[in-house]
Amino acid sequence: MEQLDLAALIRIVLRLVHAIAAAVWLGSGVFLVYGLLPLRRVSSSAADLVRASQTQFRRWWVASSALLLGSGVALMFDRLADGRGTFTYVTLLAVKVAAGVLALAASGGVLPRPANTRQIVPGTLRLSGRVVLFLAALSYLIGVLLSVIYPPDPTAGWR
Ligand code: HEM
Repeated sequence: MEQLDLAALIRIVLRLVHAIAAAVWLGSGVFLVYGLLPLRRVSSSAADLVRASQTQFRRWWVASSALLLGSGVALMFDRLADGRGTFTYVTLLAVKVAAGVLALAASGGVLPRPANTRQIVPGTLRLSGRVVLFLAALSYLIGVLLSVIYPPDPTAGWR
């Protein structure tokens, strides 16, 4: 720990931000798709409650999406720049990033829209909630796998 410099600290903070945003995003997505959305069929008051909870949670959703993307892009350039990327690493990373970006892009169709907006934003990629969760879970698992198989060196300086 004594060699911890600013670059190392930023690298650690980026990973922590990415990990906590991933937990919020994926956890709330699973609860929404499997716990809340099916309730819409139960009664109109349940449907209102689901809509209200989506609106209430919207800020968390938008913030965790932005943090996932921002920290993910920074981590990606940092990891690719260390020059240790084997073909397997780069291929797995490409699949992980593609799955993550697709999940984020498609989630607008499943997840809370601004209050009083019912229509779908033009150009929003439409995938079912389960497909979005599958892509996000794939991105999550490959992310963890990569950091286990190719552990980063937080004490490496700026590259
Ligand atoms: C639904 C979206 C996403 C989820 C759930 C997710 C989840 C994760 C998780 C859990 C890790 C492991 C963190 C660690 O143990 O250090 C990780 C690592 C990573 N993620 Fe994501 N992520 C998502 C989107 C993205 C996006 C959009 C990008 C890039 C634009 C990205 C780039 C990375 C990189 C570069 C790593 C480090 C991989 C390594 O250790 O070599 N992620 N991600």
